[in-house]
Amino acid sequence: MDKIVIEGGYPLTGEISISGAKNSAIKLMVVSLLTSEPVTLTNMPDLRDTRSLAALLKHMGVEVESETASKMMLHAPKLSSTTAPYDLVRKMRASFNVLGPLIAREGKAKVSLPGGCAIGARPVDLHLKALEALGASIKLEEGYVIAEAKKGLKGAEITFPFISVGATEHAMLTAVLAKGETILFNAAREPEIVDLANCLNAMGAKISGAGRSEITIKGVNKLSGVEHAVVPDRIEAGTYALAAATAGGSVRLKNIRSDHLGSLWPLIAQAGAKVSLDETTVLIERGGGRPKPVDVDTQAYPGFPTDLQAQFMALMCLANGVSIIRENIFENRFMHCPELTRMGADITVIGREAIVRGVKEFRAAPVMATDLRASASLISAGLAARGETHISRVYHLDRGFEHIEIKLGGCGARIRREKDD
Ligand code: UD1
Repeated sequence: MDKIVIEGGYPLTGEISISGAKNSAIKLMVVSLLTSEPVTLTNMPDLRDTRSLAALLKHMGVEVESETASKMMLHAPKLSSTTAPYDLVRKMRASFNVLGPLIAREGKAKVSLPGGCAIGARPVDLHLKALEALGASIKLEEGYVIAEAKKGLKGAEITFPFISVGATEHAMLTAVLAKGETILFNAAREPEIVDLANCLNAMGAKISGAGRSEITIKGVNKLSGVEHAVVPDRIEAGTYALAAATAGGSVRLKNIRSDHLGSLWPLIAQAGAKVSLDETTVLIERGGGRPKPVDVDTQAYPGFPTDLQAQFMALMCLANGVSIIRENIFENRFMHCPELTRMGADITVIGREAIVRGVKEFRAAPVMATDLRASASLISAGLAARGETHISRVYHLDRGFEHIEIKLGGCGARIRREKDD
């Protein structure tokens, strides 16, 4: 297993080009199950999660080819299997989204219940209720969902009791080929949902309202092939912006959609870094002096993303005062706190709130990545800490951050990958 070693205490200076969004790419790949024509995705990130999903799609008979690391062609003239086995699904929760498209195309599917990051219970009840509303019959047997729609899928009105990104996307991916109209109420509004709707519409789907909480989908008989560019990764961009604010220095991020991080920029500025934006780039500059404390509350989009909570906490650990960070989306997303504490942070977790008392500096230490986004907070802390920080279980990072050590190394970070003993 690999580990990342950071010799910290040096500011970051330079430019980083942001990749396509992981959370969008892995939904767009699933679109290939809905058409017998080729789907070409550009601006694709090359990640463990996209490779895991490619393996699952290949198992179902989808031809997957990568012309370059950022261009993937997926083609499924016909499918050879409607089963998604545990071994392939457990690596990534979002692979569960193949269930609805398989029912839509083949009338049946057997898909393992998902794995993924251990950040709370993360059930799939909303996904299953949405599929049932669309006419699928569902049984759970030995860890598998067994579903069929003998009479085909039909449009329905679906009201989500709370916002779920995955369930909104899954319902959209399933309803595009259902008969009649589907309306999703209380839908998630994330940019990745708009990206998915844009791609499906370019294939002939009739989706309106994506990006708002009411989405209407008029079912069509058939979808055609498409070439689609994946939206820039707002979480990767936010992670590097926060790393620059934490370690200090001056970093320009390119190929971003700055409007997708409207909740982050004012908070970084309040913390004392200078933020200069245009539509596709941002420059983050932080000189001497400690950051100011800022309270944060995670919310569904357009609120502050839960996927940046750990990275924001790393910044607040160095603040000149006390901040309160509240996690509203996942009930168990403070696993980075004990690791940051090992590096000298002063954090008290009470239920869904973390009280962060700023300290003057991080101390380098051996730490462990516990989930995908949490590991990014340890990178930030390691960059700011004087001495050598060793981060083990790096496979979490490799799920979602493309070439992290190369991108940070390009900004002067002393960061390397080593074999863990
Ligand atoms: C997606 C993102 C993840 C991000 C999260 C919230 C992907 C691949 N992952 O995850 O990075 O942190 O959105 O922005 O896009 N829930 C249920 N029942 C369900 C579905 C969800 O109770 O059927 C709960 C979850 O446990 C969680 C909350 O709803 O507490 C929100 O989860 P959801 O928005 O569905 O997150 P994901 O789609 O899994």
